[in-house]
Amino acid sequence: MHPAIEATQTFIAQTYRRPPFTLVQGEGMVLIDDQGRRYLDMVSGIAVMALGHSDPAVTRIIAEQAGQLVHVSNLYYTEPQAALARALCERSFADRVFFCNSGTEATEGAIKFARKLAFARGETERREILSLSQAFHGRTMGALALTPKEAYQTALPAAHGRSTQPASGRSGRAGSQHQPYHLRGDRGACAGRRRGSAAGGGLSACPAPALHRARRLAHF
Ligand SMILES: Cc1ncc(COP(=O)(O)O)c(C=O)c1O
Repeated sequence: MHPAIEATQTFIAQTYRRPPFTLVQGEGMVLIDDQGRRYLDMVSGIAVMALGHSDPAVTRIIAEQAGQLVHVSNLYYTEPQAALARALCERSFADRVFFCNSGTEATEGAIKFARKLAFARGETERREILSLSQAFHGRTMGALALTPKEAYQTALPAAHGRSTQPASGRSGRAGSQHQPYHLRGDRGACAGRRRGSAAGGGLSACPAPALHRARRLAHF
């Protein structure tokens, strides 16, 4: 057994199943393990690292920044953070960005922004969040509350109340392999986690009527 596998199994909480090889190098889209076997990287760090491995320009830029200034928190102004925010806004729909460290924090942020917006508009009864079945949104409690998988809902019931319930079937296409939305009540949704497809359970298209219905429920 490779020492990295042994150490991982000994010192890291066993919350992930991993295949039995150790990755030691990456070149662009290719990953190489300790036996020299090559793999096409179709995971990209679960879709958040699409710049490839050991790219010379990316490597140089990271090294330059590390030699200048590393993490200083959100308590201070820095040039790279401002430049990144501007670049994201200029290339997307957004007026402003919210920086965080993980996907699950982004989910928490979305939940909080939606709740705050509903509250600010005096619609305090709008507290429900819609999410796709077969989805995974992250490991924090809010994100887990949106994760329909029974194991999470049973073992880790959300402290602030569940945002989802087992699929009712009302919104699903008859005979479809999954129900696209978890709905609770016909009114009162303040946000929908919407992607047109569910991640974490493979890829499956969401029927358009379900998306339209979710949009109506979550519309402000
Ligand atoms: C679809 C989806 N959303 C959110 C997350 C959470 O991202 P992170 O692990 O960066 O918190 C994941 C991570 O697996 C994910 O697959």
